[in-house]
Amino acid sequence: MSPPFGDILPLRVLITGANGLLGQRLVEEFSRYGRYDVLATGRDERPRFGNLSAGYVRLDILRRADIEGLFADFTPHVVIHAAAMTNVDACERERALCWRTNVQATQYIIRACERYDSKLVFLSTDFVFDGQNGPYREDDLPNPVNYYGASKLTAENEVRASLLNWAIVRTALLYGTARNVNRPNFALWLLDRLRRGERVRVVVDQYRTPTYNVDLARGIEQLVRRNASGIYHLSGRELVSIYEFARQIAEVFELDPDQIQPCTSEELGQPARRPSRTGFIILKAETELGYRPRPLREALRELRQQIEVDIR
Ligand SMILES: NC(=O)c1ccc[n+]([C@@H]2O[C@H](COP(=O)([O-])OP(=O)(O)OC[C@H]3O[C@@H](n4cnc5c(N)ncnc54)[C@H](OP(=O)(O)O)[C@@H]3O)[C@@H](O)[C@H]2O)c1
Repeated sequence: MSPPFGDILPLRVLITGANGLLGQRLVEEFSRYGRYDVLATGRDERPRFGNLSAGYVRLDILRRADIEGLFADFTPHVVIHAAAMTNVDACERERALCWRTNVQATQYIIRACERYDSKLVFLSTDFVFDGQNGPYREDDLPNPVNYYGASKLTAENEVRASLLNWAIVRTALLYGTARNVNRPNFALWLLDRLRRGERVRVVVDQYRTPTYNVDLARGIEQLVRRNASGIYHLSGRELVSIYEFARQIAEVFELDPDQIQPCTSEELGQPARRPSRTGFIILKAETELGYRPRPLREALRELRQQIEVDIR
């Protein structure tokens, strides 16, 4: 572990993918502390989050010259690279774009971090594993079963091979609220369908440790504060099937769990293969970072409150 950033104040933190499900919470979390000077970036003209003290600049990470220009201007101490092509089925179909976004753009960011001596925190996924032996520790052997997972693992390996002060944060099945995101996360998708009175099919044979985006953002702040390096698994603590997760969501939101019908991955037939049993052992993050994700039910109750605040 490198020494903490100590007396560098404020610490300049650059966030990519700041309009995404995690990115918006990262901006919120880091903006809470006077010790950080936050520059949020996304590919939209304007930020989707509102009313925060962070700066915002439009950045398409496929444009290397724009990355270089931004680094020259802002000279970040820390870069949190959350931008990615995250739609697993789209990655399977549009492989070239997936590779450019998840691997090549990460290489651009690594080179810029090397030039400006920035610490890099790279967001990765449980999908680097094949799901045969989950839940996984940080030093378990990756073996992705789909293109998205392969792209993220290749990017991880680029980060690890760099000369940087780096950290890789792997997370799993992220849920929570964020404004105007292009794609609803599983929890919001499910709530929408249940509220319309529709029946949904949810897989019983895929296990995950669902992660509340607020908790994950807090964990990443704890990592940056300690200047921790290496790989960390940051997810919820409870390993559940996605079907079980769905039923718990329905119960906490007082919707009808019987609208959720169990099915197998084979029956669902998603375009990209999914690892069956992933999920993380988070002991390293708990002991080294003080990471404390809420229990699943508690996080879901907070999500419900959050949604009620957002609707008002
Ligand atoms: N969601 C999960 O369950 C999950 C699980 C494990 C790991 N992760 C990892 O966690 C990180 C954050 O994921 P998330 O759930 O917050 O995903 P997200 O909501 O899809 O956010 C990713 C952001 O990256 C942006 N992006 C994509 N291509 C870009 C480009 N060329 N230039 C600039 N920005 C670009 C997207 O922009 P648009 O909004 O315009 O599309 C989006 O805002 C990712 O690295 C992902 O691989 C996510």
